[in-house]
Amino acid sequence: MSNRLDGPVKVTGRAKYGADHSFPGMVHGYIVLSTIAHGEIEAMDVTAAKTAPGVLGVYSPFDPLKLHTPDSMFGKTWVPLQNREVTYYGQPIGFVVAETFEQARDAAMLVEVSYRQRPVLTSLEDGLAAAEEAPVSWDGSPAALEVLAPDVESIEDALAASPVVVEATYTTATQNHAAMEPHSAVAVWDSDGLTIYSGNQGADLQAAELAAALGVEASSVRAVNPFVGGAFGGKARTSAPAFLAAAAARDLGRPVKAVLTREQVFTATAGRAATVQKIALGADTDGTLIALRHDSWCSTPVDRSFVERTSHGTSREWYATQNLAISQKIVPLHVPPTTFMRAPGEAPGSFALESAIDELAVALEMDPIELRLRNNSTAPPGKDLQWSSKHLDECFRIGAARFGWANRSPRGRTDGDWLVGMGTATAMFPALRFPATVEITLHADDTAVVATSGADPGTGLLTVLSLVGAESLDIAPERVTPRLGDSALPPGGLSGGSTATASAGSAIVIAAAQVIDDLLALASSPGAPFDGLEVSYADGRVLADGRSMTFGELLRAVNRPSISATGSSGPGEEVTKHSFSSFGAQFCEVRVHRWTREIRVSRMLGVFDAGRIINEKTARSQIMGGMIWGVSAALHEGLEIEENGRLANGDFAGYLIPVNADIPEVDVHFVEYPDTLHNAVGAKGLGEIGTVGMAAAVANAVANATGIRVRKLPIQIEDLLEE
Ligand code: MOS
Repeated sequence: MSNRLDGPVKVTGRAKYGADHSFPGMVHGYIVLSTIAHGEIEAMDVTAAKTAPGVLGVYSPFDPLKLHTPDSMFGKTWVPLQNREVTYYGQPIGFVVAETFEQARDAAMLVEVSYRQRPVLTSLEDGLAAAEEAPVSWDGSPAALEVLAPDVESIEDALAASPVVVEATYTTATQNHAAMEPHSAVAVWDSDGLTIYSGNQGADLQAAELAAALGVEASSVRAVNPFVGGAFGGKARTSAPAFLAAAAARDLGRPVKAVLTREQVFTATAGRAATVQKIALGADTDGTLIALRHDSWCSTPVDRSFVERTSHGTSREWYATQNLAISQKIVPLHVPPTTFMRAPGEAPGSFALESAIDELAVALEMDPIELRLRNNSTAPPGKDLQWSSKHLDECFRIGAARFGWANRSPRGRTDGDWLVGMGTATAMFPALRFPATVEITLHADDTAVVATSGADPGTGLLTVLSLVGAESLDIAPERVTPRLGDSALPPGGLSGGSTATASAGSAIVIAAAQVIDDLLALASSPGAPFDGLEVSYADGRVLADGRSMTFGELLRAVNRPSISATGSSGPGEEVTKHSFSSFGAQFCEVRVHRWTREIRVSRMLGVFDAGRIINEKTARSQIMGGMIWGVSAALHEGLEIEENGRLANGDFAGYLIPVNADIPEVDVHFVEYPDTLHNAVGAKGLGEIGTVGMAAAVANAVANATGIRVRKLPIQIEDLLEE
């Protein structure tokens, strides 16, 4: 198992994140946030702030830094200070720049804001009556869709005709990504343009957004993000500090650093939507699903910029059923923006669906694994495209054996004062890939460089680049230097959607074939060591006629320092031939204290089919992190939004996330079936699937232990009090 290449610099504190960069003459910006959730800013008195010690600039909607709204693959990205509208509590409304961070912060406190307030709606429950149909999805699917058997008129008929029906409503909480590295930026302008040091999920995408916002050529923005302290979807778009630091640095002619405080991260970035989901399952007495209805509502900011597609991400594809109806509605609220967060759609969606499946198993008095296997799909319902490779049944079989599922009783067991239960759930996440370009350079010292702009937000992509590069060039990984996180490199696209290994890996395979072709052409060219011969390549060497030379020796012989080629790849014909997904089986054991109702997770196991595993260490840590996040969603995390829109727990004191004492040993196992129908490398995504299903597995274990079915997240002690 090879190690993470960036491990040593990270654990010794030598890795330089965005805000770790400093430059001569650099000054500091501090963002001012709104203290109402809805209204218009009538006035901002900045007199005291402007004359405070060290202050260089105070920007506001009345004295803005001109920024245009960028349009990207994610849609339009909001830019701060361009108007006086406030639509959530904690919205960036000002930016104070001073010689030091403390001076900027002190001056920001002196800004006096007066508002004309408007009515506020912050509760998803209260907003349900005003729900709207969600817009058409990025993949072209409408908000509501139905698949019905030929002789069936409606999903209600199919449910009515089902011998066994379970129906329930599930709710999930608003979450914040809470990445270790707060959103930040250091912006430096020179005669070539802007260089920005800011953690993000795709350097070229951030450079393009900033260029559009600043109204400059794309070529005059360079985005650097060598290390990223967690992103999870929350750094896919350019952040408020990056827009403001870039614009202020241009205005002041000084490098500007802006770092959100931890409290500011909770509102001035974007998080996960709250959801309400109604599910009805109809089955035959042998467990065969007859009908599945999944209606979902999610919170969205008032600009309707993001939809948490829970039913689309789960029920649409997960089970073989003759009759299916899903819908997605949005509820615009005066709450901080929502965006992609690890398994958007699938994470909250799987809590509802996989709880409902467990409830159906109870109603049928059937083992929940057997019920799932009985309804295993070979293709998404209503689609002809079969899964390219699906080994979910094996995940469940191996998982059941490894976890001791046979010892589970339908009513849990007791151990002294503890009620012990086991739960399971399915996990799925689509296998996708996006366009990516990689450059490979072979050097005369027999080393190679594999370079793409991209980002490694902690996933291990840097290590994966070196491994796939080495394999494609047929040399040892130690001879390959991976480069990432700089928009000056070829466009690597997004570290998001669990796509980076498949996207960059496919491009590496193409780039490697090209550079080897070019090397062989060079080797056999006139005057070269293999002039006119049939040459081949193996083991990092050029061979012909019983002779061989390493690529470095050959380059030296022809006086070339290096040879490079680029390769590009993107989703292609494969999407017309198969459906693609990663799969997994989640297992969890909980202990609930008989008297205090304290809930402890005592064992966890996830068994995953994610295609080929390139690097077991980074893959395991991705999955493990996701599973822990599932426990967090189940038992800890949830933003409490007060009626006026203020977050009651928007900091690390009040926003609970699990610590080591909350998490037992996490067992992760992979069944390895390379999926070469999806891409040449055979790897499917595993960044997001680890969290999918785990919250349901916890809730199902709690139900098994206590007999109490909790249909809301997070599950709290008071939810387990008996009447
Ligand atoms: Mo992920 S939510 O695509 O970073």
